[in-house]
Amino acid sequence: MQKNNENILRRGRLGSSTKKEVMNYMTSLSFDKEIFESDIFCDIAHTKMLMEQNIILEEDGIKIINELKKIYNNGMDCLNLDPSLDDIHMVIESELIKNLGEDVAGRMHTGRSRNDEVATDLRMALRDKILTILKLLINMQKNILNLAKEHKETLTIGYTHLQHAQPITFGHHLLSYASPMERDILRLIDTYKRVNICPLGSGAFATTGFNINRNATKELLGFDSVIENSMDGVASRDFILETMANLSILGTNLSKICEEMVLFSSCEFGTIDLANEYTSTSSIMPQKKNPDVAEIARAKLSTINGNLVTVLTILKALPNTYNRDLQEISPHLWDSVYTTIDTLKIIDGMISTIKVNADRMEELAEKNYSTATELADTLVRECNIPFRTAHGIVGEVVRLSIENNKNMNEVIRDVLDKFNLKLNDSKIEKALTPMENVKIRKVIGGPAPEEVERAINSYCSRIENYEKEVNEKIEKIEIIKNNLLNL
Ligand code: ARG
Repeated sequence: MQKNNENILRRGRLGSSTKKEVMNYMTSLSFDKEIFESDIFCDIAHTKMLMEQNIILEEDGIKIINELKKIYNNGMDCLNLDPSLDDIHMVIESELIKNLGEDVAGRMHTGRSRNDEVATDLRMALRDKILTILKLLINMQKNILNLAKEHKETLTIGYTHLQHAQPITFGHHLLSYASPMERDILRLIDTYKRVNICPLGSGAFATTGFNINRNATKELLGFDSVIENSMDGVASRDFILETMANLSILGTNLSKICEEMVLFSSCEFGTIDLANEYTSTSSIMPQKKNPDVAEIARAKLSTINGNLVTVLTILKALPNTYNRDLQEISPHLWDSVYTTIDTLKIIDGMISTIKVNADRMEELAEKNYSTATELADTLVRECNIPFRTAHGIVGEVVRLSIENNKNMNEVIRDVLDKFNLKLNDSKIEKALTPMENVKIRKVIGGPAPEEVERAINSYCSRIENYEKEVNEKIEKIEIIKNNLLNL
């Protein structure tokens, strides 16, 4: 039987020897708080299965499950978080043994290892977080779509190479945020399938000779299926890599939005104003309103890439099966997860509160010969000349305009005469009017208000489906958690 303060993990093989600084160095307890809840659920499900399979006595199982529920309700802080116990799995088992005695509680770990346990816990904790991130993404997507609807007729300039290119609308620009964000949503929904598979029952790596029922624990814990190979069950962390890679891609997409918030709110662009809450000022320059929030977000998102590279490097040359290196992945995973959650909330708030300077947008929309492409297209349509020819002619119009400091409509007549081309004034006028440029671009994905409206509706209906799918997953998990706590 356990003596007071005896180390249940080390007492046998290692004669309870510990060195404090080594134990502090090795423990995962500081980040095991992320899997505390999942670990209890995992313990409850495993114990229930052991009872049902007659591997342990029902009366022992019931005592263990009741004690686990108490530990769950009291929370992790009430436990003796002794680093010489390594981790949360041993802390919980030690607490059970302290309260129920080893003859009862010492039976819980039958047919199981911390290796399959931690792999199961991580998958359960991560699936919750993926669903949280998905909810935030869906929310932000809806806000962007609403804003796009408001601005489907707000004329502005579009850029290539950060140079004025062609007129668009701000609504169309906002859909360029919504489009990759939809793929971010789809990627995470897809990754969820590979996270939500159950390694429990893999044991240390070679399963167990006890007649355990892997399908029963898989069902109790709300997994979609079991991992078929027990070595893979304990050794693989590609579900984490995949999630972190998706977060890196999402972070890259979000970072680009931050960059544009910084640019567009500058005096040179001046197309948007950030709400005061999402800005800072200078300690010396009293006039300043700085886009610090977008800048901090842009920088924080970079740490997600660093974490991904760290985890790739930890994993890349590990031999089968479990190696303690795997423990060191966890803090990087959770850091990426929380950075994503916090940053998504902040960016959503920042975008939802921008003030759009429609006058400035309109002013820029007609600057710098932005309608030259449409003028060339008009020549193709009206004069039946090849596009390449029209491109050269309009290029000359632009060059003469710049040289003589004039608008295109002031020099175009001379150029058309030179090339013996006829085009009536109303056609020229239409080609040079930014909003007409936008309206005519009504092919799929184009900036024409009617096409932006169609696209918004189609994004909205798809987002409803994703939301339904995510809510169903959340409900299923809530049900299994409730069931486990009511066993
Ligand atoms: N704390 C460990 C981790 O996070 C749990 C598994 C420990 N297993 C072992 N064989 N030492 O990976």
